[in-house]
Amino acid sequence: MSTPAPNSPFIYMAPLRGITDALFRRVYTRHFSGVDAVLAPFIIPHPQAIQSKKLLKDIIPEANVSGLKLIPQLLNSSADDFLAVAARIHDLGYDEVNWNLGCPAPMVAKKKRGSGLLPYPDEIESLLEKVMPRLKPRLSIKMRLGYRDYEESMELLPRLNKYPLAEIIIHPRLGTQLYKGKASPEHFSSRMDHTRHTLVYNGDIVSLESFTELQEKLPGIDRWMIGRGLVADPLLPEKIKGIKIPEEQKQKRLTLFHDELYAAMKENLSGPGHLLGRMKQVWPYFIDSFPEKKKQLKKIIKASTETKYLEAVEAVISKE
Ligand SMILES: Cc1cc2nc3c(=O)[nH]c(=O)nc-3n(C[C@H](O)[C@H](O)[C@H](O)COP(=O)(O)O)c2cc1C
Repeated sequence: MSTPAPNSPFIYMAPLRGITDALFRRVYTRHFSGVDAVLAPFIIPHPQAIQSKKLLKDIIPEANVSGLKLIPQLLNSSADDFLAVAARIHDLGYDEVNWNLGCPAPMVAKKKRGSGLLPYPDEIESLLEKVMPRLKPRLSIKMRLGYRDYEESMELLPRLNKYPLAEIIIHPRLGTQLYKGKASPEHFSSRMDHTRHTLVYNGDIVSLESFTELQEKLPGIDRWMIGRGLVADPLLPEKIKGIKIPEEQKQKRLTLFHDELYAAMKENLSGPGHLLGRMKQVWPYFIDSFPEKKKQLKKIIKASTETKYLEAVEAVISKE
């Protein structure tokens, strides 16, 4: 594999809960390069579970052997719980933790968590006032540009300037949009003058062309985060880094990746229900790597046994 050009953009793998867990991350990084660091899917520090082993299962160092920097993420709005879990995360060897102010799920948002906290900048500041002086790892934030209104970020971003944040990752949609419509690089751009923090752009990077367009729109940005686009085209970070990928190798690499992911999940998950359930989370995105075979997705999603699943997959990916 050739190495990327110097000054190449810094690329994060975005957290996709239910997809980019430790196992996915491990298999992905064995097969593809181009990603520089990874943000782990959120952990909810429920008070009853703060000391449990299970809570940090996805980020224990033994399960994260790719050598890439991994940043754990917390989703909550209680300073005490945040500090308790962040201290455990620090003890595991992590020097940075991320606060999720972006999750749009209505069940989360209505509890004033994730993007649901964005309309309440006083509460965000109040948590930061309590947490920052005692937090051992550095803190970064991943946020949307508002829950209901883009103006919410105009209010919040200047207030964040007084805290020593590692960086702010912005997915420029509103929480109420969920994943509908398009991310707005224009709104992202208009916020750049309102923060002194390093910004990372996240949202709808699905191809080299869409990445190049964003680079042209946002010349000051050199840190990017890719989620669904990376599962849809696992080679995308390599393409962005200018790594040449011989055409005849593409299908083979995708096939090997799928097969190892399947085998690793089979070994680690209990029972075919679990295994197929997890693979079926990946396929609605991964099918984009096989544009002529899109009709086969239904069969994969409907497969009720491992045999039926493997038959449906065989019709999509080449086994030469
Ligand atoms: C299935 C799914 C799970 C997600 N889980 C998380 C999560 O745990 N933490 C988080 O900050 N964002 C999460 N996100 C949001 C993504 O990290 C990302 O911000 C969003 O998908 C936009 O980027 P993309 O267009 O590159 O996918 C999730 C998104 C999806 C679709």
